[in-house]
Amino acid sequence: MSALKKIEQTGWLRGSSAGCRPRFRERRNCWRLVLLGPPGVGKGTQSQLLKQRLGTCHLSTGDLFRAACSRTGCNSTPAMVEALNFMRRGELVPDSTVWDMVRERSECLQCRAGFLLDGFPRTLPQAEQLQAFLEEALLPLTGVVEYKMPLDVIIQRLSGRRVCESCNAVFHITSRPPKVEGVCNDCGGRLYQRPDDCPASISVRMEAYQKSTAPLIHYYADLGLLASIDADGTADQVFARTMGALVPRARRVNN
Ligand code: AP5
Repeated sequence: MSALKKIEQTGWLRGSSAGCRPRFRERRNCWRLVLLGPPGVGKGTQSQLLKQRLGTCHLSTGDLFRAACSRTGCNSTPAMVEALNFMRRGELVPDSTVWDMVRERSECLQCRAGFLLDGFPRTLPQAEQLQAFLEEALLPLTGVVEYKMPLDVIIQRLSGRRVCESCNAVFHITSRPPKVEGVCNDCGGRLYQRPDDCPASISVRMEAYQKSTAPLIHYYADLGLLASIDADGTADQVFARTMGALVPRARRVNN
């Protein structure tokens, strides 16, 4: 794992900004993005590509909860144990727990390198809390990307997904296989299948998305921030579509 990746993960995953070293000095021209879309649509995969191109940190609330679980062996605070139980079943973690975790890491949102939020916000109250925080800190979002794809393709993607237990890189057994089976290309870590990628949890997660997260699409469309992207096709094709939608938007925000 590169030194930079380790530093980013320390800042966001452990809740401390100590040792963070943003690549860009100016706050002005950095990218502040939110990625929306159902579970398995490819947000984490696109985050890896966007992070390399834009120099932003990838801030995933799902990675945050999984890291808290592996670090503590799930013997954390009662709120965290409760959060992890929600997550295993595929349900959303309560807003108050999520916002406490994000607020503890608010320095990541103010970083000069910008940010790429993946999995947050996920409910209207979370979106309103984030918007109020960003407005007060004078940190406008560059844009919000909504990825869209048919359900049957999503289910294929989730059932073949493998994730690196040490750097969270995402693979797929057929469409994005690692060079060596079960081993991460980036850091040599072990690849595992997420417990919430079982069929029962997938259907609960899809329902939670429709009920709680899909309304955010209207919220961000009304703010003039939304870019809807077709997520079918290869990861590189989806990435090219994403950049095609975001670059003109970034020019408008930064000028
Ligand atoms: P989280 O970790 O955020 O999961 P998610 O939103 O369900 O999204 P996924 O990570 O499953 O999918 P993805 O869109 O990133 O797809 P990926 O790139 O991996 O959240 C997990 C849980 O945490 C939630 O259920 C909840 O309990 C809790 N939680 C987190 N945040 C919360 C919040 N804010 N509020 C409340 N609760 C919260 O891709 C999937 C697969 O497809 C991979 O194998 C990949 O290799 C493959 N793939 C990707 N793109 C392509 C492509 N173009 N072509 C072919 N294959 C592809």
